[in-house]
Amino acid sequence: MQSQEDVRGGLRHLINLQGLSRQTLTSILDRAEIFRRLPGQPTYSGQELRGVTIANLFFEPSTRTRASFELAALRLGAQVVNLDLQSSSRVKGESILDTLFTLEAMNTDIFVIRDSEPGVPEYLINHVAPHVSVISAGEAHLSHPTQGLLDMLTIRTHKRHFAGLKVAIVGDLRHSRVARSAAQALATLGTTDVRLVAPEPLLPDEDFPGSQRFTRIEAGIAGADVVMMLRIQKERMKKSTSLDDAAYFRDFGLTEARLTLASPSVLVMHPGPMNRGVEIASEVADGPHSVIREQVNNGVAVRMAVLAIIANTLAQQRRAL
Ligand code: NCD
Repeated sequence: MQSQEDVRGGLRHLINLQGLSRQTLTSILDRAEIFRRLPGQPTYSGQELRGVTIANLFFEPSTRTRASFELAALRLGAQVVNLDLQSSSRVKGESILDTLFTLEAMNTDIFVIRDSEPGVPEYLINHVAPHVSVISAGEAHLSHPTQGLLDMLTIRTHKRHFAGLKVAIVGDLRHSRVARSAAQALATLGTTDVRLVAPEPLLPDEDFPGSQRFTRIEAGIAGADVVMMLRIQKERMKKSTSLDDAAYFRDFGLTEARLTLASPSVLVMHPGPMNRGVEIASEVADGPHSVIREQVNNGVAVRMAVLAIIANTLAQQRRAL
């Protein structure tokens, strides 16, 4: 894979958390803390992205990620264009590369891309002009780097350190780019107790770094400091896979009763969108341990940080020419 960093070590693209150092991850989280404003506070409003044009290309549905990339860009003074599958000419048969070149011809500096096919972000970084960057907003089941970062910011805010934490990731791990990016970031930041908790068919084929597998939720979340719930992603399952929502909730749903098995100060996370009553009980989603809305709030701050850092790399590159 082509490096995400330029020759000077500046972050140029972000398509995967694998291979990024602890220092790089930490500096993104530190920058995000500067941009973060709690709901009710006036939002950060800056000019870090003045003169920068960002194209959000979403070839898969998105609510949180798309809205937060757009808000992040606008709050830092960027110009933004949003294209989705319905309105883009990709459905008219134009290749993704033609879409890229068209928007490059309009002086786009940063592409934010979400696609259900593996390999699209990397394909784009191999084809963009030298002064253009690519950020993944979700690649198939493989990678969702800004989600991984916002999850780390949420954990760090409450737990301060990653070493010594017990983190259970529960649910449809097989199809989850959220879980893959979180596991990569946790490993880099020093968490060594990561539990993958799911019924056998929903566990991933590959091993995640430093993780153990559990097929009973009670054992998997015992003593956990963080319980990260995942959505059942029916749209990524083979048509033949039948999954009964009620049975899943009975065996794997996070209920208040089950949550008492975790640490008394456990954080409950979910990337959204949630299937209430399937993977998580409403009382838990809205309960005192839930940091689900904080995750959404942190998402904007993390995306502001990533955009600002990448725009800075592009500006330095331009100055060096
Ligand atoms: C996730 C995604 O799209 O990967 N959602 C998100 O970005 N907040 C998870 C999901 O769809 O289940």
